Amino acid sequence: MLYIGVDLGTSAVKLLLMDGKGNIQKIVSKEYPIYFPHPGWSEQSPEDWFDGTMEGIKELLADCDKSEVAGISFGGQMHGLVILDKEDKVIRPAILWNDGRTYEECDYLNQVIGKEKLSEYTANISFTGFTAPKILWVKNKEPENFAKIQKIMLPKDYIAYRLSGVHCTDVSDASGMLIFDVKNRCWSKQMLAICEIKEEQLAKVYESYETVGTVLPQIAKELGISETVKVVAGAGDNAAAAVGTGTVGEGMCNISLGTSGTIFISSERFGVDKNNALHAFAHADGHYHLMGCMLSAASCNKWWMDEILGTSDYAKEQEAIEKLGENRVYFLPYLMGERSPHNDPNARGTFIGMTMDTTRADMTQAVLEGVAFALRDSFEVAKSLGIQIERTKICGGGAKSPLWKKIIANVMNVKVDVIESEEGPALGGAMLAAVACGEYESVEAAALALVKVVDTVEPTEELVRKYEERYQKFREIYPACKRLFETILVKEVARDGD
Ligand code: XUL
Repeated sequence: MLYIGVDLGTSAVKLLLMDGKGNIQKIVSKEYPIYFPHPGWSEQSPEDWFDGTMEGIKELLADCDKSEVAGISFGGQMHGLVILDKEDKVIRPAILWNDGRTYEECDYLNQVIGKEKLSEYTANISFTGFTAPKILWVKNKEPENFAKIQKIMLPKDYIAYRLSGVHCTDVSDASGMLIFDVKNRCWSKQMLAICEIKEEQLAKVYESYETVGTVLPQIAKELGISETVKVVAGAGDNAAAAVGTGTVGEGMCNISLGTSGTIFISSERFGVDKNNALHAFAHADGHYHLMGCMLSAASCNKWWMDEILGTSDYAKEQEAIEKLGENRVYFLPYLMGERSPHNDPNARGTFIGMTMDTTRADMTQAVLEGVAFALRDSFEVAKSLGIQIERTKICGGGAKSPLWKKIIANVMNVKVDVIESEEGPALGGAMLAAVACGEYESVEAAALALVKVVDTVEPTEELVRKYEERYQKFREIYPACKRLFETILVKEVARDGD
C-alpha cells in the first residue's frame, strides 16, 4: 500500500509518497507566500495551503497506481491560529508561529494570570507564537472577527478538515496552543475560560496515529483515489520530524534546522522544565517530549544568501569557510525575535565584531555558528535539568550542509547521526499514516523498522575546545543588547504610528 505524508511548512508544503516498506517513491514541493504586514507580524492564507496541498498531491500521484493509496497524514507548522465562521469561511489570514504581535496578551497571561497557573493548567507558559495569546489578540484587537468564530484550528488541521470534513487535531499540535492540558491529554477548562472560548469551538483531540475519518467523496474524485483512504490525525511538524528520524521512546534527541530550529527530546514520562524555558508537549508516539524552539534557523542562512548576498549557491559560499572555531564575527540569529530560551519578541538579528579584514566567508560562517550557538542555549537548559545527551539525529533543509552539521556537533559536543532521509515531518506523516492503516503495530515499531543511520559526525577535542570559548563569548552578547532591542522596537512602532 502507499502512504502520503504532508509537511505543511512555512515556506512550502512538501508531500512525500512512501510504500509500506518505507521506500520513498516521490517527493513534491509547492511554495506559497508569507506576509509580514508589520514588523514582527507573520501571516499566511489557509486557502493557499490547501491549494498547494491539492496541487501537490495530484503531482505526487501522477505516475503511481492510485488505488494503492491507503492513508494520508501530516506534520504541520505549529501554533498558527486559523478561525472559521459559521459558513466554514476563513475569517482572517492565519497568524503564524513566528508572529510576535501578541506581547501584550503574553504579558497578561504570564503576569496577570501568572506563569505558575499556566504551567499548572497546560505544563507551559505563554510565548508570543502560541495560540492562546493569539485568540486573546483577536478578542482585544478585532472583536468583530472574534464574535464570528465558529471553529478554531491549527494549520495542518485545516487541511485535514478540508480533506475529511472532520474538525480534528492531535495531542502534539494541541500542546502548543496553551489551552491543552498536556499531562492529561485533554482541553483545559481553566484556559477555555481565560480565553473566553467554548470547547465546541475546538477540535476533537486524537493521538497522532489515530484515524479521524476518510477523504470526502468530492476530494476522492478530484484526486482519483478511493473514498476509503484514511485521513490520520498527524502531528505538529517537530513531533512528526521526530517520528521521521526515529526520535521516539526514552531520551532520544533530534535537531531540526528548518525555518525554525528546534531541539527535541523524547521521554516516556511527563515532565516539565521548572523555568518553562523548554516546552513540555505530548509526543506523537503516545508519550511526551521537551523542546526548545528558536524562531529563525535555516531561515537566517536563507536570508543571508538570498536577500543579502544575492546568491542561490549556498554550497559555494560555504566552501570558502576555512577557520572553524576561530571566527571573530558573531551573529545573533533573532530575525523574528526569539522564543527559547529568551522569550523576547523584541530581540533582533545582529552582527558584531567586524574589522577591515573581515571577509564575506567570515560573515557567512558567523550566521551558521550563530544558529548553532543559539540552539546550544536550549541544549544548556536541557542539561541543567539533568538530561544527558550524547548524540542526536538531525533533519530539515539546513541538515543538507555537511559543514553546518560539523559546526553543530562541535558547538554542542554531541555525535550527530545522519539518517538516510532528512525529510523529517513529511516522512513522519507518512509513517503515522502507515501505523494507522495497520502496517506497523506502533509508532516505535515503525521507527525501528524504517529509520536508518547512514553516517555519524563526531566532534573533535580541539574544535570542541575552540567552540566552547566562542560560545561563552556569544552568551554575553544578547544580555548586552537586550535593552537596546527594546528601544529600537519602541521607536519603530512609534514611527509606524501603531
Ligand atoms: C515549534 C515551532 C516551530 C514551528 C515551525 O514550537 O513554533 O518549529 O512548528 O513550523
